[in-house]
Amino acid sequence: MALRVRVCRLAEVVAGELRAFPVTGVTWPVIVTLIDGAPVAMPGVCPHDDVALADYGVLNGATVICRVHGYGFELATGRCEHDPRLYLRRYRVTLLDDDVWVDLL
Ligand code: FES
Repeated sequence: MALRVRVCRLAEVVAGELRAFPVTGVTWPVIVTLIDGAPVAMPGVCPHDDVALADYGVLNGATVICRVHGYGFELATGRCEHDPRLYLRRYRVTLLDDDVWVDLL
């Protein structure tokens, strides 16, 4: 069973930016961006060392770069370009009207 939560409106998501949206009861905000016009959502924490991607993450094309140590994470796969043991989770996204919902589980 999925734990689906509403995160934001689609109009609040901007291509080329990592927007952070707090979710009640969840430690890290959900980060949402647009890739090729489609919303992509991920946890707001770097899998390398538990720092906030809302503060230290930047988008370079379809790759999230964490500025703390410079690691890159491909949004298509979650794969880390610098350490194959690391993986950036992506949440399943569902659009309902203009609302972005993500499956946290
Ligand atoms: S904490 Fe993000 S790359 Fe090290």
